[in-house]
Amino acid sequence: MKRCFKKILIGSYLLLLAAAPLSVKAQKQRRVQPRAEVQAMVTESLQASVHQYHYLKQQLKPDQWPRTFENGKLQTVTPYAWTGGFYPGGLLYLYEFSHDHNLLKEARARLEKMEPLKTVTAHHDLGFMMYCSFGNAYRLFEKPEYKAILVRSAQSLARRFDPRVGCIQSWDQVKSLDGKRLLKFPVIIDNMMNLELLFFASKATGEPLYKDIAIKHAEMTMKNHVRPDFSCYHVVDYDVETGAVKSRETQQGFSDNSAWSRGQAWGIYGFTMVYRETKDARFLQTAKGMADFFLNHPNLPKDKIPYWDFNVGQAGFDPPWNFDPLKYQPVPRDASAAAITVSALLELAGYVDRKTGDRYQRTAEAMLQSLSSPAYRAVTGENGGFVLKHASGGVPGNIEVDVPLIYADYYYLEALMRYRALKK
Ligand code: GLY
Repeated sequence: MKRCFKKILIGSYLLLLAAAPLSVKAQKQRRVQPRAEVQAMVTESLQASVHQYHYLKQQLKPDQWPRTFENGKLQTVTPYAWTGGFYPGGLLYLYEFSHDHNLLKEARARLEKMEPLKTVTAHHDLGFMMYCSFGNAYRLFEKPEYKAILVRSAQSLARRFDPRVGCIQSWDQVKSLDGKRLLKFPVIIDNMMNLELLFFASKATGEPLYKDIAIKHAEMTMKNHVRPDFSCYHVVDYDVETGAVKSRETQQGFSDNSAWSRGQAWGIYGFTMVYRETKDARFLQTAKGMADFFLNHPNLPKDKIPYWDFNVGQAGFDPPWNFDPLKYQPVPRDASAAAITVSALLELAGYVDRKTGDRYQRTAEAMLQSLSSPAYRAVTGENGGFVLKHASGGVPGNIEVDVPLIYADYYYLEALMRYRALKK
């Protein structure tokens, strides 16, 4: 009897030992307990978003992809726009939450039409387009055909990598905002987001080339886009022969030296994701630095939804283009930058020390609460069917200023789902 008890004790001890690494790992991802009132808000927001996307779906013809709602009109694009993946991706998050088969049916119909995009090599946006759509579909259903489409897309994206520069070229070429110069190898901070597709392809195929390209691109971005204070340039133009930096500037921010809010958000999210894939501490430091710049900025409003640029109208920041900072008053916010940042913070909180993780998570909760309030979240049946209001696309070009944007919705839905997953 005694021996039997001893055996049980030893057995339990061994079991505990075996379980230890697992529970530590699990704990690492969710040090902070989700709060019940935030969970309730998240559930309510997802329910409301399901209703809203049913309404959005009704407004659309099968070949129309929703982009924004301006002057009382729904604006749509083709799936070839850089935003093509966000609508099916958002539908898939909502299906994952609700198990509503009508949303899944709509997502699948959109995915079918997006398959030919896998061979696009005209720009860097393929990661956004294919990983947010087929990446989520593969995550949920693990269909080999989705994997094959993602790998083919990664091949297309990798063709834009130039080893002389060490980067993926974002656009073929673009004129500087003052119209005086042609940038021939522009790389934008947004490009960090496309790297997730490459990491996926290496894991799916066992071929390291994709991930090697992603890591090199991230290293060059860390070196040449990120400033010493952890804000970032939007665009870096390279000399393709020598790999030297030719200029650092903006296309969508207030000035070349300002902090464009969505660019900052792409950086926080992008470097967090690259740290997840590499476990290289340099990328974690960069993600943290960029997050702290955003969260500690004296010009971040109380509700923590940033202005479209942190430096609009400030001394020392001069637009390279003919722009009156008082043109839009009050200064427009960018709910998309907030949504991207919340989603990133919920992941980053699991990679840092406990105190910092607590701070990131509590800030993410506050931002989620702002976004889910009537100030930003639309009433069902309004806002053209989009969930969020008050995002800003390209203010310098007077494009999509203070409107709903499909990518604000996508990252908001992702953040809600990430928060929801904390309780498991
Ligand atoms: N990637 C384009 C944008 O953030 O506006």
